[in-house]
Amino acid sequence: MKELEIRKMLKEDIAALLVIENEAYSNGENWTKADFLAELDNPHYYPLVCISDNQIVGFCSGIIVEDELQITSVTVKTEFRNKKIATRMLIYLFDIACKNNVLSCILEVRENNIPAINLYTKFGFKKTGSRKKYYANKFDALILSIENMKSPEFLTEYERKKEQLCLVQ
Ligand SMILES: CC(C)(COP(=O)(O)OP(=O)(O)OC[C@H]1O[C@@H](n2cnc3c(N)ncnc32)[C@H](O)[C@@H]1OP(=O)(O)O)[C@@H](O)C(=O)NCCC(=O)NCCS
Repeated sequence: MKELEIRKMLKEDIAALLVIENEAYSNGENWTKADFLAELDNPHYYPLVCISDNQIVGFCSGIIVEDELQITSVTVKTEFRNKKIATRMLIYLFDIACKNNVLSCILEVRENNIPAINLYTKFGFKKTGSRKKYYANKFDALILSIENMKSPEFLTEYERKKEQLCLVQ
């Protein structure tokens, strides 16, 4: 795979993002243009895209409120999955969070979304709650959290991940 670049999302990216989004979700969970615009217009959000060979291959976003990061999306184009793109985007987002003195991180994931649950578990997320039948009035949302991003437990694993991906400067 060609070199990856992660940068801030731009309004001009939205058409390509909608294609990736509609491909990834088929059950009404997909974001609309209005959802992307709302994040781009809010300074508390950090929407990012990942580029390979001039095309967007994934995106992720999060909102920082006080000392908490809430991850709102992580999506990778189907044919680019399992290449650590989501891992790299989350590391990029966590680095922003660390610079903003964030202590904890929270997100929601469908209970049967095994790839996403595995991805988050590898970062140290743990189940801290759930919302019954949150998705399509059928599947629960699991609330996953990292309660202390400054703990040695989190930081050691985080640095190890960065080293593995040669992201240590
Ligand atoms: C979840 C998703 C973002 C993962 O992206 P990715 O770039 O393929 O993930 P990575 O390559 O960084 O994988 C990191 C870890 O996630 C887990 N994982 C990724 N894909 C997996 C799969 N198909 N099955 C099981 N675990 C998987 C693995 O633990 C993996 O670590 P490993 O490579 O050491 O085994 C991607 O599958 C996706 O876009 N899914 C559709 C959108 C979605 O559901 N987003 C999450 C919303 S909460």
